[in-house]
Amino acid sequence: MHFEQILPRLGVNIDHVATLRNARGDIHPDPVDAARLAIEAGADGITAHLREDRRHINDNDIARLQALCLEMGKPLNFELAAVDDIVGIAMATKPHAVCLVPEKRTERTTEGGLDAAGLHNQITPIARALADNGSRVSMFIEAVPHQITASKSCGAQVVEFHTGAYAHALDMDETDKAEELLKAMQAGARQAYELGLEVHFGHGLTFENVTKIAAIPEVRELNIGHFIIGEAISMGLKPAIIEMRRLIAAAREIK
Ligand code: PXP
Repeated sequence: MHFEQILPRLGVNIDHVATLRNARGDIHPDPVDAARLAIEAGADGITAHLREDRRHINDNDIARLQALCLEMGKPLNFELAAVDDIVGIAMATKPHAVCLVPEKRTERTTEGGLDAAGLHNQITPIARALADNGSRVSMFIEAVPHQITASKSCGAQVVEFHTGAYAHALDMDETDKAEELLKAMQAGARQAYELGLEVHFGHGLTFENVTKIAAIPEVRELNIGHFIIGEAISMGLKPAIIEMRRLIAAAREIK
């Protein structure tokens, strides 16, 4: 298999358009309009996290995003915690993909990966129900060998490796730590691929740090939100997506 010829998909996470809307408690800006623009700019899919506290995306957004993705023929990747009411919404929505993430009310964003090993018995029936319902099931984990094997045995078809610590280490100029984390993600991607899992990456990715992640041979999808939405303020949403896709292609040496 010639990995380098596969261009990883770019999933654009539009949560923070809803964050901005919710700051005023009104209807503008609309994350569904942003999702349409993102797809028109070349996003391969839309990612949205329906959090238990509904701090950004809400139930109505999810329904409208699923309708938009069906209309535009692009996948919706619905991120959720493995809790009954949100799982129920995911079952009713039937998105193309679901990504199980850990969630803490007090966190600013998703800190660290899901403990698929520790929560194995709790997660397995949920993962299997979501898969039987027609969604592709992903686990958002750290690139640690036992979490990868646990994800597989829970019934995941995909693992998404959390790139947050890597991005943070680079921001702090901790190059040795970043290199160590990159090596762990490269090894994790190989392990996951050999287990038959599709490999995704996401969290904290930017124009500056995306190249080495996009160059990992097994990667099939990158999910990027906060940075792209932030760049939309200066360069615009479409140019930010076009530039991110250009950098991903360049990392694979795809012209
Ligand atoms: N992937 C997953 C599973 C996430 O939880 C998030 C954040 O919601 C992202 C990707 C996107 O991270 P960021 O907004 O930092 O690009």
